[in-house]
Amino acid sequence: MALIEVRNLYKIYNPGENEVRALDGVTLSIERGEFVAIIGQSGSGKSTLMNMLGLLDVPSSGEYILDGENVSHMTDDQLSEIRNKQIGFIFQGFNLIPSLTAQGNVELPLAYRGMPKEQRHKLSLDALERVGLGHRLNHLPKQMSGGQQQRVAIARAVAARPPIILADEPTGNLDSRSGRDVMKILHELNEEGRTVVLITHDNGIAEESRRVVRIQDGQVVDDYTNAAL
Ligand SMILES: Nc1ncnc2c1ncn2[C@@H]1O[C@H](COP(=O)(O)OP(=O)(O)OP(=O)(O)O)[C@@H](O)[C@H]1O
Ligand SMILES: [Mg+2]
Repeated sequence: MALIEVRNLYKIYNPGENEVRALDGVTLSIERGEFVAIIGQSGSGKSTLMNMLGLLDVPSSGEYILDGENVSHMTDDQLSEIRNKQIGFIFQGFNLIPSLTAQGNVELPLAYRGMPKEQRHKLSLDALERVGLGHRLNHLPKQMSGGQQQRVAIARAVAARPPIILADEPTGNLDSRSGRDVMKILHELNEEGRTVVLITHDNGIAEESRRVVRIQDGQVVDDYTNAAL
């Protein structure tokens, strides 16, 4: 059984005359441990798909089986519990809280889970060291470079050790060097066994991914493996 299995997923905004079929019948399965790039033009439905895979939004219709569990018809509370356990998110805009230090940002979602302070402290420290920021624990986001901020966001995504990492254009706001650092970390996380789904419109980055899924007008139009990797 695949880790991520979606069947006939539709997301239709403004049903009726001006409807937008952001997802128009997507069927996709992703095995545990894969590194998948999802590519496609602006407006093709990539972020919509990621929001569905990440349980941040619900489809208009279709099925989603995540880790053997049908999550298609769950309540918000059930979805957020599964999301917290299974998925770490990384966004293009980092989405850090400006008034919190690097470590504070990484600890926050752990605190939401009710994790005791000492454990929070340890996991956040591990995660920040993991991304090479053990020397920036007490810096605020504005005191760090974009690449460092994105690494804080990665630490936040992985601190609770979720099996799935979903990243939407994680290098989109970074210079090429910082972008490469971020990609290197994502590949390392994958080598440790995490499943990584990466949205990008950068063909160079897609080339580094073992599997590439191309979306166009809300449909999967291509799905191939980079044999060279
Ligand atoms: N809340 C919404 N209401 C109406 N239409 C929406 C909404 N969100 C997205 N759309 C439409 O759905 C389509 C897919 O959007 P989506 O954000 O998934 O594209 P994307 O592939 O991520 O694009 P980009 O590369 O620019 O981020 C677009 O046509 C968009 O205008
Ligand atoms: Mg998008």
